[in-house]
Amino acid sequence: MSASPSLVSRPYQSYVYAYPHKTAYLPLADRPPLSALWADEPKESLSLYLHIPFCEVRCGFCNLFTRVGAPDGLTGRYLDALDRQAGAVRQALGERGPVRFANAAFGGGTPTFLEAPELERLCDIAERRTGADLRAIPLSVEASPATATADRLAVLAERGATRLSLGVQSFVEAEARAAVRPQRRADVEAALGRIREAGFPVLNIDLIYGIDGQTESSWRTSLAAALTWRPEEVYLYPLYVRPLTGLGRHADTASADSSWDEQRLRLYRQGRDHLLAHGYQQVSMRMFRRADAPPQGPDDYACQTDGMIGLGCGARSYTSSLHYSFDYAVDARRTRAIIDAYTATRDFDRAVHGRYVDGEEARRRHLIQSLLQAAGMPVEEYRRRFGTAPSEDFRTELELFAARGWLDDSVPGLLRLSPEGLAHSDAVGPELFSPGVRAAMAAYEPR
Ligand SMILES: C[S@@+](CC[C@H](N)C(=O)[O-])C[C@H]1O[C@@H](n2cnc3c(N)ncnc32)[C@H](O)[C@@H]1O
Ligand code: SF4
Repeated sequence: MSASPSLVSRPYQSYVYAYPHKTAYLPLADRPPLSALWADEPKESLSLYLHIPFCEVRCGFCNLFTRVGAPDGLTGRYLDALDRQAGAVRQALGERGPVRFANAAFGGGTPTFLEAPELERLCDIAERRTGADLRAIPLSVEASPATATADRLAVLAERGATRLSLGVQSFVEAEARAAVRPQRRADVEAALGRIREAGFPVLNIDLIYGIDGQTESSWRTSLAAALTWRPEEVYLYPLYVRPLTGLGRHADTASADSSWDEQRLRLYRQGRDHLLAHGYQQVSMRMFRRADAPPQGPDDYACQTDGMIGLGCGARSYTSSLHYSFDYAVDARRTRAIIDAYTATRDFDRAVHGRYVDGEEARRRHLIQSLLQAAGMPVEEYRRRFGTAPSEDFRTELELFAARGWLDDSVPGLLRLSPEGLAHSDAVGPELFSPGVRAAMAAYEPR
């Protein structure tokens, strides 16, 4: 397994929240039936994800799979299709062995774009069609300030949501405008008040650093404003400017500019130190959790090997050997076409787009997902699963990380990033991609 030998590496290459990345997925020639894919998979601790691809606005930085608005009853047709897909998946899962969901999430886009009765229906689909017991398991929901209305939040709280994640991005209005996410601070604060009022056990706030015009002082303003709400979790995202997004279309040379990297690294360290000084623990480069936040129960952490059921046109599903979804786009016209095709689909019993994950890819995935956590990876855990040591399988890469000062070897038996390694998570992850995944991602044409 090879790696580039350079000791210099750009810190912001890509956010590796899942491996292989979705841009490495291709149409599946064999279109395997779901019933065959899931027949021999463990199904007693599954994750459930429902994707809602609608937003009120298209933010300048955002390349998520979503569209602005939902004309002519589109949300209703989308929920009809979700209902059909949930039924088909449940049937495929239920053919052999017990099925249980250990956690659930509604993501987007913006799930709270749906109105209160539509959110009721979404919960009904998750419960009655898919079989998830939403009130008994952790349920996380994403929201934007404008859509976090009292009636929608009340439905989510009543149906068992345990975590509400609000995309704030910045409390500074000029920065929100610069990110093409215009919003008034008063509206953000009011949304946070409504969320606290609704009583979710966990509030998460998303903030972005590296926005044009953002300074250490304005970053401190956003961090302090967020902490007045004592959120149980805070995510700090470095800004990425990606092709076909609003910012991407107008980008000059910013993405090739090393001073932007330095700005982001500086603001990252400031944000991390601020949160650590205010009673937060670092979980990963982006995620911080309040040390005294109530525990979320044993299901809080998804096990490396558990399967994922994704429903909706932008959701991924994972078995141990195949990751699959539907086609993916950022461009508005293509996104709309994919959503329209999804809502017209009657037959959801096959996987159509994805990537097979073989033994070597499973090792890479395990290493990436564990190493990018601040807690690191117990080497013994890897050895139990694969029968080898990471130092045998990834010698070149790990030597390179060590030479860059990215590993902390102070605890025997633990493979863990140093603080600088964690700061460079978005370079560590891509370094561990296989040649096949790299080639597929390089061949992907943004659309
Ligand atoms: C699904 S969105 C959050 C929910 C909701 N749609 C909203 O925007 O309020 C997930 C989060 O990813 C982060 N994000 C998305 N694209 C990003 C980018 N290009 N650079 C940095 N952060 C990004 C934002 O912080 C955003 O809140
Ligand atoms: S950041 Fe959130 S609200 Fe903005 S376009 Fe992306 S998903 Fe929609």
